[in-house]
This record gives sequence, structure tokens and C-alpha cells, in this order.
Amino acid sequence: MKFLLHTYGCQMNVRDSETVAALLEAVGHIQVRSEAEADAVIINTCSVRGKAEDKALGKAGLLCAEKRDRPLIVGIMGCMAQRLGESIFKTVRGLDFSVGTRRYGSVPRLLARVAAGETQISDLGDAGEVTDPPHVHLDGSHAAFVTILLGCNRRCAYCIVPDVRGPEHSRPAAEIVAEIRELAARGVREVTLLGQSVMNYGRAHAVWPASPAPSSFSEPFPRLLEAVAAIPGIHRIRFTSGHPSGCTDELVRAVRDIPQICAHLHLPVQSGSDRILARMRRGYTRADYLDAVARLRAARPGFALTSDVIVGFPGETEEDFTATRTLMDEAAFDNAFVFKYSPRPGTPAAALAETVDAAEKMRRNQILLADLDRRGQALNKARIGRTVEVLADGPSLRNASRWSGRTTGNTIVIFEIPAGRHVTPGDLVSVTLTRATPQTLYGELNTSSGLTPW
Ligand code: 5AD
Ligand code: SF4
Repeated sequence: MKFLLHTYGCQMNVRDSETVAALLEAVGHIQVRSEAEADAVIINTCSVRGKAEDKALGKAGLLCAEKRDRPLIVGIMGCMAQRLGESIFKTVRGLDFSVGTRRYGSVPRLLARVAAGETQISDLGDAGEVTDPPHVHLDGSHAAFVTILLGCNRRCAYCIVPDVRGPEHSRPAAEIVAEIRELAARGVREVTLLGQSVMNYGRAHAVWPASPAPSSFSEPFPRLLEAVAAIPGIHRIRFTSGHPSGCTDELVRAVRDIPQICAHLHLPVQSGSDRILARMRRGYTRADYLDAVARLRAARPGFALTSDVIVGFPGETEEDFTATRTLMDEAAFDNAFVFKYSPRPGTPAAALAETVDAAEKMRRNQILLADLDRRGQALNKARIGRTVEVLADGPSLRNASRWSGRTTGNTIVIFEIPAGRHVTPGDLVSVTLTRATPQTLYGELNTSSGLTPW
């Protein structure tokens, strides 16, 4: 059967979709790129904001309408499937199957049952179950995501994630290391370790054997970073998302001493106002956040930060908003996602009365985006003239001599490959930067040594 996967939401969903694709290919199905070609379309959904849910529902509705004209199987997996439960079959008329966040391993089985004539079937499980779903990868890429921590134990007042992804469960370290070893053997050069609050890895239960190999660290996450860095072939290690509480002295020491760890962290701040941070139940203050930033930058000069910010959280005043603006400046974010607050059913914040109206949320959103553009342009402009290390991702679609890659700080770099030079995706190359836009750097391939990380 030919299948297509639509993925909304975070990198965790991208990773889960990849596993589903690999499982389906393993039993003989073929992944296709267009809906018209597909016999089955599976939508991997996100519940984090109302807009993300509306998009997925719109897509599912259109696909189910298509079933009137041709045979087509439509399935939904991920956070919305978990959140809506069996009621999803009432919301999406004609939906064939639904799969929970820790049950994606059963997609091939559900698809086979639908192909055999069943419909409206589900395997939702319980978001809290500790049974580890499968972790398999498709072949052929030089960069891979590896989920190390499922679920989330924080209860940020606005967030639906603990409900749909369940409590934290860390995978055993030996299993993660074995998975990355295999990826490296298949040509992977960059791994991104994934978890909702990734530095909480191994805090809730044991992940190392009773007498693990000697390590320079005692905390489980820095220990894991050290073990991954020891795997031959892994040039770069990233991890996401961060939380300031994870920036312990040991973590900062790992960032300083392990060269494979990239000089970049996605560290969502959400707000720069202590009053709003407390109402959000984030568990840190503005000063705590800036302290974490300062310690990371002291460990690695030029350390790049990206972040998530919410505007219009209930009760956010102009003064609170200004505090977010100034924090973004002080932290000098390379980039950030700005989200307009969206009340999520059942979360504590959804019950708060002092809502900010839509036009005001939009105004605050636009101001932060303009700030980000200006700051991005200035940060990138200052990088012109430097020769930096770039991990080559591949040629652009339109012009094969024009390649795209990323710096250790995760900024995209576009560079030309001169005739006669051969570059493979995953290679580390040296690029002299010649031009900058707020989000992208441009440069020329360089043969000399003398790299600076930025
Ligand atoms: N409304 C708006 N943004 C939200 N996020 C999480 N929950 C909400 C919500 N209810 C944002 C946060 C988080 C990112 C993944 O989504 O900024 O870091
Ligand atoms: Fe969206 Fe959160 Fe689910 Fe990721 S974990 S898909 S961000 S709701």
C-alpha cells in the first residue's frame, strides 16, 4: 500500500512519524510524497495550541471527504488522538483509525485491519504507560533525532503536554547508546537527543546499570552526553528542549569540555516577567534564566540560544510584555518562536479570567517578530568575514552546486561548491561568511584551517 504521513507539531512528532514510516516500510508499504498517490494518509497531530489542532482537523476533514470519490484510508495519531479519545470519531466523520502518543507502534496492525474492512478503530493506550514504543530509523540521512525521554512531569499552567504525552519516562542509557552506535555505523554524523524537558533525563528512575563505566560526571544526563560523544563517527550532538533547571554545574561543564556538543540550546523562556513566570508555574525567575544563559556563554563563548515565548498569557500587562522584550534583548536570542496564548481545555490557565484580547496578542506578537528580525540581522552581520565550521546538509533543489549546511549554533549557511570539490552530506566543511540575512548566512567554501566556531 502507498502511504503518506502529514506531521504537525514538534520534533518529537517528526521522530515518531519517522518511526511509523520505517515500521510501515518494513512490512512492504511504500512512502509517497503526494496525497493523490496515497492509498492511506496518516496525520500526526499536535495539541499545543488551538490553531495547530484546527489545521489538522481541517486536513482530516478534507481527506475524509475525498473518500466519497476514491478508496482512501485516513488515520490520526499523536497528541490530538490522545486528547480527544474515542470522541475523535464524532469530530472527524469517516476517520478510519486513531492511535495514542505511546502506541504508534501499532499503526501497521491498525492499517491492516482497516484494509481488511474494519473502520473507526483505535489503540489509544494510556499516555502514562511505561511500555517503550519502538525506536527504528529510516536509512539514508546524516542527521537523526533520538528520543531519550518520553512525556513531561512539569505542570506549566498553560500546557496540555503532560496530559497527552503522559509522565516522564527515560529510556535506559545502554539502549540509547546502542541505537546511536548503529546510526553512526549507517552514516549518521549528527544526533539530536529529544525530550520535552530533556535535561530531566534519568532523574526520576535509574537509567544506568548499578555499576556503570567510570565517568567524569555523576548526573545521568551529562553522563549520557559523554557516552554519546565517545561513539566514533558522531561529529555533533544536540539536545532539545532545555529548561533552566537542567543547566546544572555538571551540564555546563559537559558543554565546556565535550567538543561534539553544539554551541546552541533551545531554551524556552516563555516570559521575561517574574509575575507571569510565577503564574505560568515555570519554576524559575528572570534572573535564574539569565544566570543559566551567562553560565552557558562563559563555558562556550558565542553560545547560541533560541527560545519560545508566549504573548497574551492571562493577566499579561504592557509592563510584563516589556519585560519579555528586554529579556529577549539581554539574552540575545538568535531566534525564537513567538506564540499567542491559546487556552487549552483542562489546564489551570484556561480557568484564569483576565484574558488578553486577540488584537492585543497580535500587536505584541508583531513587535517581538520585528525585534527578532532586527537582532538576527545584527548578530548575523557581525559574523561576516569569519570562517566557520559547517555541517553540510545537501545541495539545494534548484542548483546542485549550491549547498546548505548549519553552524554549531544551528544557523543555516548557504555556500557554493567549486567544480572539482566533492562534499558528502554530513561532512564538516569550512566556510568563509560573505553575506547575511536575519535567518541565513551565505559564504564560500574555504580550504584553509583556522576555524572559529562562529
Ligand atoms: N498557548 C500558546 N503557546 C503554548 N505553548 C505551549 N502551550 C501553549 C499554549 N497553551 C508554546 C510554548 C512551548 C511551545 C512548544 O508551545 O512556548 O514552549
Ligand atoms: Fe505538540 Fe506538544 Fe504534542 Fe509536540 S508534544 S506535538 S508540541 S502537543
